[in-house]
Parts: sequence; structure tokens; C-alpha cells
Amino acid sequence: MPIDPPARFGEIIAEIDRAIEDRLNEPSFPQLLTDSIRHAALGAGKRLRPALTLLTCEAVGGDRSRAISPAIAVELIHAFSLVHDDLPALDNDELRRGEPTVHVRFGEATAILAGDAMMSMAFGLLAETPCEHPGMATALVQELAQATNRMIAGQVLDTVGGGDENADPLAQVRLIHEQKTGALLRASCRMGAIAADADDAALDAITTFGESIGLMFQIVDDLIDVEQHESHTGKKTGKDHEAGKLTYPSVLGVQGARDEANRLRDEAAGALSHLGERSRTLQELTAYLACRTK
Ligand code: IPE
Ligand code: IPE
Ligand code: MG
Ligand code: MG
Ligand code: MG
Repeated sequence: MPIDPPARFGEIIAEIDRAIEDRLNEPSFPQLLTDSIRHAALGAGKRLRPALTLLTCEAVGGDRSRAISPAIAVELIHAFSLVHDDLPALDNDELRRGEPTVHVRFGEATAILAGDAMMSMAFGLLAETPCEHPGMATALVQELAQATNRMIAGQVLDTVGGGDENADPLAQVRLIHEQKTGALLRASCRMGAIAADADDAALDAITTFGESIGLMFQIVDDLIDVEQHESHTGKKTGKDHEAGKLTYPSVLGVQGARDEANRLRDEAAGALSHLGERSRTLQELTAYLACRTK
């Protein structure tokens, strides 16, 4: 049964899009570079990662305005990862969010450089976070740097290989998914909690939540690739099998992958349980993400 995104989501996404718009104007950039970054960072994406940063900040008792810079920073890293993921040397995709990919629209050199620029813009933005103590700024930078490194490591394993090919296929695919996708989602959640100056118990709960939805998210992405059509998703489907990718449906079958996604959904919901009413939107979001179709 399809579930809608939480009712508050629309208002939060509008706030995120205004903040992205405000921060994309780097005066030293040629217009072509700015246009390509706008194409990558705006448009029909879900803005899930920044929404998680704002919502986890709220769920541990913070005011979400404190988390807006880390929220936009993580979305810029995500947008950079998609631009490079779509390049001919990686997944070679021509459609993203219902539009031509950045390299198709602006050329391959511009796409590579737009990705580079979004990475440095993200870390510049983090420096703008209002921090109550110097440790907070350091923790945010470490969090995003470590997650970005893990994302890139996962992309290498997914695209080029080099992992432990003697490990059992489920362990291999789990590591790839935790790194290429899970790490940034985990960091999205943790940065919201860090910006709210959460105590250790709340940060641990948010970490478990972020790890569970992080892996779940990529399993559902694998299922979408098998089960949906590009007219619905805005990106090509059926491509993982064609490219011989290691995915949850290829290792566990479609039903096995679905069961694992549902197990992770329940684990994520359980991690939030002691945060109480303030985590209600995150609970609703978790239920939606487990059965999303795009
Ligand atoms: C797509 O992420 C790439 C993965 C990590 C699976 P999203 O499904 O969040 O993409 P957008 O931002 O909504 O386009
Ligand atoms: C993308 O995984 C992971 C990153 C961009 C880091 P996919 O290659 O499965 O994502 P889609 O399906 O192209 O969005
Ligand atoms: Mg890929
Ligand atoms: Mg891809
Ligand atoms: Mg995919």
C-alpha cells in the first residue's frame, strides 16, 4: 500500500530550496558553472538528506534553523555524487529527475568540474554553521568529510571493484550499500543531532536510526530499479541488471530484498522510540521511505 510523505514535508522542502537558491551564487564562477550546479542541485529531487538533518535536529530538541547550513552542505555532496555517478565512466546515465543529466546538458568537462565545485562549496557552507562551541564545528566537518570519503569508497567498489571477492555476496553488497549511500544518510542524521548539541544517548539513537534507514534506502533504490519504469521514476530503470551490479534483489531475490528493507524500517523506528512525540515526523518519513516507488 503506498504511503504519502509526511504532511509537513512540503513546507520543509520549500525552506530547503530557498536556502539552496540563496547559497548557489559564487561570484567567481563563470555562468556555465553556476548553471550546471543549479541544474544538479535544484529540480525534482526529494531533498531527503537535508530534510533528515533538519528533522533530526528537531527530534532531539533543537531549533531546526541551527541545522540549515549542514543540511544544504550534505545535499550539495549528494548532488555532486549523482552528477559523477551518471558520468559515462561510471553509470553512463542520460536521465536524472526527469531531465537530461548534467554531462548531457552541459558537457562532460563541466559536469566533472561542477561536482568538484559542489564538494568545496559544501565544506565552505559548514563553516557558516552557528556553533555554540568550537568542538561542534570540528565534529560537523569530520562527520561530512568521513561520510564523503565512504561514499567515494563505495562508488569505487560498486563501479570498479577491488573489494573482497571471496566474501559472501550479501556481505559484499551490504558493504557497498552502507558506503556508497548509507554513509551520507547516516551523516545527514548525525549532523542534525550534532547541530542541536544532543547528548550521547540521543546521538546514539539517531546514529542507529541513520544507519538503518541508510541501508534501507539503497535496498529500496535497487527494488525501484527492478520494479518501476523511467516514466515514473525520472531515471532509467532495469540498468543494474544490465550493468551486472551487485544489488540486494540480485543476491536475495525481490522478496528477500523487500523483507530486509522492512526489517531495517522496523529497526529504524525502534531506535526513535525513546525520543517520543518530537520524532513523529521522522517515524512517518521512515514508513514512507520503506515503500516509496521513486
Ligand atoms: C539517488 O538518491 C541515489 C541514491 C543514493 C540511491 P535519491 O533517490 O535521494 O535522489 P534524489 O535526490 O531524490 O534525486
Ligand atoms: C548511487 O547509487 C549512489 C551514489 C550516487 C553515491 P545508484 O547508481 O544506484 O543511484 P541511481 O540509481 O543512479 O540514482
Ligand atoms: Mg551508481
Ligand atoms: Mg547510478
Ligand atoms: Mg540505483
